[in-house]
Amino acid sequence: MTKEIEIRIEDGVQVIRFLRADKKNAFTGPMYSAMSEAIDASEKNDAIACHVFIGSGGVFSAGNDINDFLRRAQTTATSDGKGIPAPSLDFIRRLPKVTKPMIAAVDGLAIGIGTTLLLHCDLVYATPAASLRTPFLDLGLIQEAGSSITAQTRMGYPRAFEMICLGEPFSAERALQAGIINAVVPADQLEATAMKAAKRLAAKPRQALMTSRRLLRQNHEAISGMIDQEAKAYQTLMTSPEAREAFTAFLEKRPPDFAKARRGG
Ligand code: COA
Repeated sequence: MTKEIEIRIEDGVQVIRFLRADKKNAFTGPMYSAMSEAIDASEKNDAIACHVFIGSGGVFSAGNDINDFLRRAQTTATSDGKGIPAPSLDFIRRLPKVTKPMIAAVDGLAIGIGTTLLLHCDLVYATPAASLRTPFLDLGLIQEAGSSITAQTRMGYPRAFEMICLGEPFSAERALQAGIINAVVPADQLEATAMKAAKRLAAKPRQALMTSRRLLRQNHEAISGMIDQEAKAYQTLMTSPEAREAFTAFLEKRPPDFAKARRGG
């Protein structure tokens, strides 16, 4: 089990904390696997009523680790089009199927899966420093985690397009107006606010809570289908010269040269 994910259970709440602040809490394979294991265990554990996702070091998450992207880009796409089995996709596939409420506490950057994870959460609290970004297209990729559906369900098509295709950062205030976070709270009250809401949920009649949530989340099958469609396109794009250039440029700390990459340079 990686030390970069801390799992704590408190009063019926499973707290999943990202502890890789030196890399802005970018998610690696072992981190995704640890989160998947925690979710699977909680589904079988009646003592757990809900989950809280929280970052550390003033960052929620800088998204998927770009070193992992580059490693996958250097591997040929599989012929079934579903892509290489990856802990990230295994984790993402679980999200629409989780039966217990998910809450996120967001301070600082929430990039890529750091934002699309929020679109699966039932409650999201953020600090004034929160910034939600999905720079998929700038990496030569497309949106994931079913956000083709969840983004527009939560904030409507124009804002979903702006976030996903333009890659526009959403401040905490903008995300609040757009309806993708519930409240903006001071940094020193963030965790307490999320935990208070989580414990309120944990104290409710469990069967009624689970039934209510299930009825509110009618489109989970459509989201699961979309995750597979997105994964297929993602996998094709992942091996494109432009995506490889974007990953390499980030790691070499230089701007990407997409025109050169297209020419095969
Ligand atoms: N994958 C791998 N490493 C990452 C990372 C990621 N997604 N995000 C940040 N890091 C690493 C940096 O490489 C750097 O490592 P180093 O100290 O060994 O050089 C460290 O985290 C700190 O990041 P740095 O870029 O120096 O901090 P910053 O404050 O200048 O910028 C970000 C922070 C998050 C804006 C910037 O790192 C970034 O754009 N990251 C990529 C985000 C992204 O595109 N994610 C994928 C979405 S699909």
